[in-house]
Amino acid sequence: MTSGAWDRVDQYLEQSLLTAPDREQRTAVEQANSAAGLPAIDVSPAQGKFLNLIARSIRARRVLEIGTLGGYSTGWLARAVGEEGQVVTLEFEPRHAEVARANLDRAGLGKRVEIRVGAALDSLPVLEQENPEPFDLVFVDADKVNNAEYVRWALRLTRPGSIIIVDNVVRQGGIADPNSADAAVRASREVIELVGAEPRLDSIVMQTVGSKGWDGFIYAIVTE
Ligand SMILES: C[S@@+](CC[C@H](N)C(=O)[O-])C[C@H]1O[C@@H](n2cnc3c(N)ncnc32)[C@H](O)[C@@H]1O
Repeated sequence: MTSGAWDRVDQYLEQSLLTAPDREQRTAVEQANSAAGLPAIDVSPAQGKFLNLIARSIRARRVLEIGTLGGYSTGWLARAVGEEGQVVTLEFEPRHAEVARANLDRAGLGKRVEIRVGAALDSLPVLEQENPEPFDLVFVDADKVNNAEYVRWALRLTRPGSIIIVDNVVRQGGIADPNSADAAVRASREVIELVGAEPRLDSIVMQTVGSKGWDGFIYAIVTE
């Protein structure tokens, strides 16, 4: 099967399993992001819906996201937490945060989402100092080289039973090469080894194919 076939399958699944408002929401975010010059590196509609289903499965009320872009994945998570829930999302680029704010407000989700602008490794200690309620779900999707640090922070900000997801760790199979010179591949191997050795986490990596190519994500549950 080729990537063209993966695309066609994703298109079929989007038509079959997403609602018309889901598809309209995707188009609206895509158009706004593109008009603002944001890169098209958000999750696919199927991946966004999957995040939404996971969050609803665990009845998540508090979600932390690292890497907002235009707020497409944020919107799926914000819909999952419900009116009383909250998504805190961390974004380095002020322009991305501005576009995300507009996208989320237009979708009627603005009240559920707090966007914090700055490098996540600066924002996370500030967040911790505020002594927040533990997060039920953490979605890591920012600069890949810091993934291991983000998981360490996620452990500090969650509770037993929380879920930590780290996107884009398979890197078209690159992670199978222990000698790879690619910084993102090396970071993926680092974070996979971290979660494998961490006694407070039970984890697996699921490989994925689709409109975003061949990749995969870490799915980890905080056990203690
Ligand atoms: C892959 S995109 C996020 C996509 C988004 N989660 C979605 O699916 O709609 C990664 C985002 O992380 C942001 N980013 C990169 N380095 C960062 C850092 N050190 N701290 C916070 N955000 C960062 C980028 O500016 C970019 O907007």
